[in-house]
Amino acid sequence: MPEADQSEPKQFRPDVPQARTPFFVKGAGAYDWGMQNRLARIFRPDSGRTAMLAVDHGYFQGPTTGLERIDLDIAPLVVHADALMLTRGSLRSSIPASMTGGIVLRASGGPSILKDLSDEQIALDIEDALRLGASAVAVQVFIGGECESQTVINMTRLVDAGLRFGMPVLAVTAVGRELTRDARYLGLATRICAELGAQIVKTYYCEEGFADITAGCPVPIVMAGGKKLSERDALEMAYRAIDQGAAGVDMGRNIFQSACPAAMIQAVAAVVHEMERPERAHQRYLDLKAAIDRGRQKSGKG
Ligand code: 5RP
Repeated sequence: MPEADQSEPKQFRPDVPQARTPFFVKGAGAYDWGMQNRLARIFRPDSGRTAMLAVDHGYFQGPTTGLERIDLDIAPLVVHADALMLTRGSLRSSIPASMTGGIVLRASGGPSILKDLSDEQIALDIEDALRLGASAVAVQVFIGGECESQTVINMTRLVDAGLRFGMPVLAVTAVGRELTRDARYLGLATRICAELGAQIVKTYYCEEGFADITAGCPVPIVMAGGKKLSERDALEMAYRAIDQGAAGVDMGRNIFQSACPAAMIQAVAAVVHEMERPERAHQRYLDLKAAIDRGRQKSGKG
């Protein structure tokens, strides 16, 4: 039995109003505690942004270059990312449960690269996302695609399920080959996703009008990486996206296909959280890479 608490006087401070801290994630002020807490596992409260690593490519294209062994090549990178976007298969089989960052679980799927990619269905029960401790679920939305409405409805169904349990939905604006990734298209696609309830929208960077896309989207936009560029160009693209209002990045190939993924993810995180300028971020990448290479040579692994 604990001793009776007899210390006096108590510190009720009746003249001080209840502390009210506005929630920092764009558009998320009206959500319940659980939803906000999950968003805060993806977006860092100090910067308000996220450096997310996407490794879910296998769900439609099989063993992607750089992702052949997620256990060996991706698991060691997890400490450098704010959140990891992946499938439940990879999570359970290849990522240690000791990880503490955010988990964004792939929740749509169906067609492979051999078929029409827009013909997706919901491929994850919200209960499994909860069981795995996910911070959000991710779904493709193919605006202008063959199965446009089906993918929008996949998203709204996940949003409805997510609202029941406090699980955010990240909508990925997937662009078919025949569509142009310009501000007009990306502005349309991102806005539709936000209007219909997604709490986070992932989209591509475009040279013209990206600031209008982020301003016109009432929830955070995270930039998708896209095809592999040089490290310098990828850092430049990330910098521009953040400078023009993106709340972070969700990059895959430009990190895990880099000559030194561990160095690249740290350089990307510096751009995202510290607004490190591209030339300095690239130097940081080169310095980290050199240190990692030296360590490997010393240990005989180089
Ligand atoms: C699949 C996805 C991927 O997670 C992501 O877009 C791929 O990342 P990257 O393009 O940076 O390799 O959403 O469509």
